[in-house]
Amino acid sequence: MCGIVGYVGGKQASKILLEGLSKLEYRGYDSAGIAVRNDDGNINIVRTKGKLKNLIEKTNNGEDLEGSCGIGHTRWATHGEPSEKNAHPHYSEKDSVVVVHNGIIENYAEIKEKLIEKGYKFYSQTDTEVVANLIDYYYKEIENDPLDAIKKFMLRVRGSYAIAVMYKDCPNEIYAVRKDSPMIIGIADGETFIASDVPAMLKYTRDVYYIDNMELAKITAGKAEFFNSDEEVIEKELVHITMDETAAEKNGFEHFMMKEIHEQPEAIKKTINSIVEDGKINLEKVGIDAEKIKNYNQIFIVGCGSAYHVGVTLKYVFESIAKIPVQVDFASEFRYRSPLLTEKTLVILISQSGETADTLAALKEAKKHNVDTLSIVNVVGSSIARASEYVLYTLAGPEIAVATTKAYSAQLVAGYLLAVQFAKERDVIDDKEYKNLIEEINAIPEKVDEVVNTQEDIKHLASMFSNVDDVFMIGRGIDYAISLEGSLKMKEVSYVHTEAYAAGELKHGTISLIEDGTLVIGLLTQKSLIEKTLSNMQETKSRGARLLAVATNGIGAAKSCDYVINIPKINPYFSASVAVIPLQIMSYYMSVLRGLDVDKPRNLAKSVTVE
Ligand code: F6R
Repeated sequence: MCGIVGYVGGKQASKILLEGLSKLEYRGYDSAGIAVRNDDGNINIVRTKGKLKNLIEKTNNGEDLEGSCGIGHTRWATHGEPSEKNAHPHYSEKDSVVVVHNGIIENYAEIKEKLIEKGYKFYSQTDTEVVANLIDYYYKEIENDPLDAIKKFMLRVRGSYAIAVMYKDCPNEIYAVRKDSPMIIGIADGETFIASDVPAMLKYTRDVYYIDNMELAKITAGKAEFFNSDEEVIEKELVHITMDETAAEKNGFEHFMMKEIHEQPEAIKKTINSIVEDGKINLEKVGIDAEKIKNYNQIFIVGCGSAYHVGVTLKYVFESIAKIPVQVDFASEFRYRSPLLTEKTLVILISQSGETADTLAALKEAKKHNVDTLSIVNVVGSSIARASEYVLYTLAGPEIAVATTKAYSAQLVAGYLLAVQFAKERDVIDDKEYKNLIEEINAIPEKVDEVVNTQEDIKHLASMFSNVDDVFMIGRGIDYAISLEGSLKMKEVSYVHTEAYAAGELKHGTISLIEDGTLVIGLLTQKSLIEKTLSNMQETKSRGARLLAVATNGIGAAKSCDYVINIPKINPYFSASVAVIPLQIMSYYMSVLRGLDVDKPRNLAKSVTVE
């Protein structure tokens, strides 16, 4: 949520900042800005409302801003509407302090009042302007010590932040600090970079430092010094990033979302191959051993959005295959309901970014109760990965489209493999079943590939339904879990109102919303449940609905539905992996046909680092 960049070196900073922001736009895109110090020592700030292209135009692709030290920001609004005035960088009076900020300062209103009493004036509605003025206040109060001013700021504020600060008095220096929001520092020959995420600096360097919570950094050309909150120097290890830079390019696809839909077979295969060796699941890299697995008597799975939907699917899979009770929670709810965590509990956190604030807070809550935590995370070295006891990395590669596809698919298979290993270690399945289940999981990429590469019928259906007002997606068991994800995908990228419903629940109220032309999509992959779901679909048809079935080949849905998308036969435990693909594709085309920004839907951001 919000992207930060910074640069000090020998090149023109503005161009590097704009390039970096273009790689971080997925984190927010309702306004953007950069601040660059010129040779006269003035800090020039340019900000625009809207997407980054407006800032690129306004600065003449950066040409208009001279100078080799600067900071930049792309915003997802929290305090104050998206506008030029509320865009970052923000500055204190007389530009003595200029800041970019990712996160939320919870006690900003009270601090703002105090600063107003002391004579400070404010031009925006943001909490970040308070950051600039508070640092300015401490900087002047303590005789111009830039590090000490930030340290005092850290003690005074509550909330989460990753902040980069330029002081007018300190040429060619940027100061950085973070708490519960990501920030990395990259080093190259004579150049230093700051960013919220690795892709922003990959073109220039792969050698990075991760700043930890409550640590400060002083950044100069080619050098970064780190301090703890007592201002003692800390030694940090440089980490070499191996991520493929081309993964952040569209490679001939019109949108990242379609590119990433096509990358799913590979993402799934890589994730499986990282854990399955010689036909057996090996969790050595994850760090969890057989004794631990045998000892747990309950699992909580926690995530947000699509990651939560993976959790709902895995509940069915774990309980059916491994016979262990599972509860699934929205991360934003988990810590507010006093979950009964014991020493025999495992909490599994699922997150693509590894930075989602709600999930990170849930992880901290679990750790407070001293229970084991295992995260399924895509971004290596992210906050959730680093704070969890055990980490199972999905190998989906960088996901750029705001709506997740390949990371969701990789999370599913990571979860299936865990469930199968739990079943094996707990003696719930024999060797033959273990082998069969692994073989079924190994076959998923090929089946996904088949659906990904036969899009014409789905595209046609998308064009037929692109103007509908309401869509209901229904199913039972795992089919319900698939509906949840299909519905979220469709509403977030196509802005069509959709709802997912447990098929049997529809008649208990929601059926009153069905009218002539409403589209009802039934998920039919669970043989033992399809008759019941088909009956529920028929109940809506009698009230005017048009029926589309997403059904496993040969399961027998075609006769009673208006339209059918067939998916390859698959073990019902793992059907979510295949059945979700047509819903992703249909959502994509509906968005394109409605002329929307598929990769950056309104009001959203890829990485949600505020609670
Ligand atoms: C939906 C989507 C979101 C994320 C959610 C969690 O397409 O992408 O619902 O799944 O914001 O994000 P991560 O997985 O990064 O914790």
